[in-house]
Amino acid sequence: MRVNEKILDLARWAPSGDNTQPWRFELLDERRFIVHGFDTRDWCLYDIDGRPSQIALGALLENVAIAASTHSMRASITRRIDAPDAQPTFDVRLDEAPDIETDSLAPYIAVRSVQRRALATRPLSMAIKRTADGGIAAIVGTGTLSDVTSKSKPIVIAEAMPMVVTATDGGQPAASDALSFTLYKPTGGLWMATGWDGIRAVETPLQQGAVGVHPGN
Ligand SMILES: Cc1cc2nc3c(=O)[nH]c(=O)nc-3n(C[C@H](O)[C@H](O)[C@H](O)COP(=O)(O)O)c2cc1C
Repeated sequence: MRVNEKILDLARWAPSGDNTQPWRFELLDERRFIVHGFDTRDWCLYDIDGRPSQIALGALLENVAIAASTHSMRASITRRIDAPDAQPTFDVRLDEAPDIETDSLAPYIAVRSVQRRALATRPLSMAIKRTADGGIAAIVGTGTLSDVTSKSKPIVIAEAMPMVVTATDGGQPAASDALSFTLYKPTGGLWMATGWDGIRAVETPLQQGAVGVHPGN
């Protein structure tokens, strides 16, 4: 392994949100490489404006400098100002620096003190996405659709259909509290909704009563 590879091999232990490791390396020669950062804001719910990815990139670059010190080298890091915001790009040059001391944090880069499992890649359900949007609660379960035209003889039309209920607590007074009920076909697709805009459920304002949404776990 060449010295730049050794340095990157240690630096890549840097933490990243959801362990996305939002970086790729382009080795130019033994003393120069490019760090191609990319953030995951387009598909990762938590990568708001790419900030968590930027924090991870900062940790990676800090690790590069620390790892370089273990080879008596100084890392000069320059951010390319013309790179898109979502793809921060850095030129790194390694220079011999006999005066530099091994950073005291170097032994800790590869130390792991927590148990980590691989990130699940299953898509988020619509209900979870909507809850994360804030201000609303969502309940996922199954529902039965009955025709209650005749109250004494309700007719079951569909049983155990996937159902999503969303609720908005608009605060006091309850005038802007709202609910939606959406039934899906078990095979996919919409069965029926109390409100639908062509893409997603639309809540119906409550005529009476109130919805209370409280943060939970
Ligand atoms: C910006 C950022 C945000 C993170 N957020 C969380 C978090 O919310 N919960 C958590 O358990 N770990 C969080 N982590 C830790 C990462 O999941 C962890 O770094 C990654 O899975 C790799 O594991 P390791 O650091 O033990 O190598 C975060 C890390 C970074 C850099």
